[in-house]
Amino acid sequence: MIFNCFVAAFILYFTAGSGTTAYDGYNDFVEEDNAPQLDYKDPQWCHSPGLTNGEVTCHSPRGAAYRSTLGTRCEMSCDRGYRLLGKSSIHCLANRRWSGTAYCRKMRCHVLHLIPHGSYTCSQGFMVDSRCDFTCDTGYRIEGEHSRTCQRSSSWSGTQPICDDTDPPKIKCPPSRLKVAEPGKLTAMVTWDLPAATDTADKSLNVILVGQEPGTDFKEGANIIRYKVYDQARNKAACKFIVRVEVRRCPDLPPPLHGYLTCSSDGSNYGATCEYHCDGGYERRGASSRVCQFNRSWAGAPAECVAMEIKSDVKTVSALLDQFHEKRRLLIMSAPNISDPDYQLQNIMIQKSDCGLDLRHVTVIELLGSPPRETGRIKESLLSSEVIEGLRQVFRISRFYFSMLLLDELGLDRERFITPMASDELFSYIDSFLLDEEQRERLELHRDFCD
Ligand SMILES: *[C@@H]1O[C@H](CO)[C@@H](O)[C@H](O)[C@H]1NC(C)=O
Ligand SMILES: *[C@@H]1O[C@H](CO)[C@@H](O)[C@H](O)[C@H]1NC(C)=O
Repeated sequence: MIFNCFVAAFILYFTAGSGTTAYDGYNDFVEEDNAPQLDYKDPQWCHSPGLTNGEVTCHSPRGAAYRSTLGTRCEMSCDRGYRLLGKSSIHCLANRRWSGTAYCRKMRCHVLHLIPHGSYTCSQGFMVDSRCDFTCDTGYRIEGEHSRTCQRSSSWSGTQPICDDTDPPKIKCPPSRLKVAEPGKLTAMVTWDLPAATDTADKSLNVILVGQEPGTDFKEGANIIRYKVYDQARNKAACKFIVRVEVRRCPDLPPPLHGYLTCSSDGSNYGATCEYHCDGGYERRGASSRVCQFNRSWAGAPAECVAMEIKSDVKTVSALLDQFHEKRRLLIMSAPNISDPDYQLQNIMIQKSDCGLDLRHVTVIELLGSPPRETGRIKESLLSSEVIEGLRQVFRISRFYFSMLLLDELGLDRERFITPMASDELFSYIDSFLLDEEQRERLELHRDFCD
């Protein structure tokens, strides 16, 4: 009987627990009436409930000592950071088993994403209560919350921060510089090292030049050179410096009296060369040219234009005329004698205009009287009788009346006057018909000279 009872209990335990009928073969021995008595007094009817990382709070109608007695109801709760899986409330059943099971699973948040240009470190990984602190790479500044905490709801507090590149790049221009224009030029070639740009965030930066390229010719004065640089976040930096080009200049060189200068380059800048030229009938005395030196002074001494020496004691007309060829014009004045009224009038008018004649490169030859008391002269220098005779023949100049003959620089007979001419008229004729463009310009330049 006792054996039967044990077997029945054994079978009941298994059939209730597994729901199988594997032991149906023993049913013959089970006496239905002999089912075990429910014992509400047994404090260990069910096994003691336990919950790892949690707490079981049981209520038994029979008191605290009957935690596992039949009918006891237990509430399951998990420690902080754990979540209950299964039944939160169980009770001890007649089959000596609890109505359900539960366990506590450690709670965690999802893996936090990485943020561009930043990183984070967490106190306890992605577990509840873990705090993750964000930091940004150097050169970037954090925008938003600096940390996120894994909450009990398995979600992170706050939102992901952003690492912003707010640091502008740095750029340093080379120092400003002064360069003297090259000799014979108004410019200077200037070079410099490209400015170095740095940025805490970016490795490669785009440096933009605003202004003239290095290694090119810079003009006189201050040339401002700017450099700009942007990082990838469009933060900007800029710098500038000045390239100053100095053109060293000598004082203007005065042209010589009865001459002029032709100068290279800009005329009076360092390295410019000025050449001295003399008007026809004048010869240069002194250096042919002068150079403007670095110390702003002209090398050498000024040249002079001195009236060429006319040899009046030559024996032939051609020897006399050759001296004037391509240099001077000739005005040959002829009169029967010194008391000829036309001659006297003309002489007065011409003497007053010596300077104007000189400006126009005119030399006056006077032929007076008849042999044997005939004279010919250029100013105070007397001509030989052969030359006087030659001039009269070559240019057909009569001894018997007043006349004037104008020869150009090639010795060609250009105009003949038989009445006295006011110097204004004479000059206006010369200016209009005998001077070339350049000579007219220079005459204009020096006109005041005669006043
Ligand atoms: C300028 O320099 C030259 C030599 O280079 C020298 O002979 C001259 O005396 C200097 N002139 C002045 C005004 O310093
Ligand atoms: C000068 O020449 C004029 C003619 O032109 C003549 O009448 C006069 O007598 C001459 N006088 C002398 C001093 O030869």
